[in-house]
Amino acid sequence: MRYALVVPAAGSGRRFGASVLRKQYEPLAGATVIEHALAPFLADARCHRVVVAIAVDDGAWPQVAARCAARAACPIVAVTGGAERAESVQRSLAALQAGLAGDEWVLVHDAARPCVSRAEIDALVAAALPHPVGGLLAVPVADTLKRAATGGGSQVERTEPREGLWRALTPQMFRLGPLARSLAAAHGAQRKPTDEAQAMEWQGELPLLVAGDARNIKVTTPADLVLAEALLQARDGVGRST
Ligand code: C5P
Repeated sequence: MRYALVVPAAGSGRRFGASVLRKQYEPLAGATVIEHALAPFLADARCHRVVVAIAVDDGAWPQVAARCAARAACPIVAVTGGAERAESVQRSLAALQAGLAGDEWVLVHDAARPCVSRAEIDALVAAALPHPVGGLLAVPVADTLKRAATGGGSQVERTEPREGLWRALTPQMFRLGPLARSLAAAHGAQRKPTDEAQAMEWQGELPLLVAGDARNIKVTTPADLVLAEALLQARDGVGRST
C-alpha cells in the first residue's frame, strides 16, 4: 500500500500563550515540533507525498521544509491553510486531488503531535487498510470525567460515564475521495469537525478505533512541550536530532 500525508500546521497557537513562534516551530529535542511530527512519515517508504498546510504569514516554514526535504524520499509541498483546522485539511486534500484518484489512502497528522511513533503508524495502517471506512488512533479514557455546570463555572454538575469513551489522536486514515467529500459537506453545512473522523461520522460512516499510544500527545501549552521533550528523550536518547 501507499499513502499521502496531510499535516495541518496553520494554527495560531492561541492556547500556547504569547510566544512569537507558532507552537509547531518551538525548539524540541534538537529540532522543532513539526520536524519530529513529520520524521517517522518521512522515513516510511509507503509515504509517497506530503502536503503541509501553513498560515499565510508563515515565515518559518521554508527553512524547516529545506531540512525535511533533505531527508525525505518523497515530495513535500505547502498549501495555505484556512481559518479552521478542517479547512486547512480540506485545502490540502484539494492539492492531492489534482494528481491522485479518490481511492488513494490519506493519513492526516497534526503538526503539534511530535511524539507519534512508527509503531503507531504501522498499527493504524494494518488495522484501517482492510476496513471499509478507515480509522484513527485513539486511547481509552482513563480518568473520571466531570461535567461542569453550564456557564463556565467550576461547580460539578455531574459525573459522565467513561465506559466506551476514547480520546481521538492522529494520524487518522481515510480514502481521499470520501474524506474530501465529507469535509466539503461539513463546510457546506457550516459545521466544524474537530477531527477528520467526525466529518466522516456526520456522513453516516463509522471509522475504526485503533489503539494508539498515550505518549502521542498534542502540544497545546508550554507544559506539553516539557513533557514532549522528556518523552522523546526517554524514547530516543538524549541529544538525538529527530
Ligand atoms: O489548535 P489545535 O491544537 O487543535 O490544532 C491541531 C492542528 O491543526 C495543529 O497542527 C494546527 O497547526 C492545525 N491547524 C490548522 N489550521 C487551523 C487551525 C489549526 O492547520 N486553522
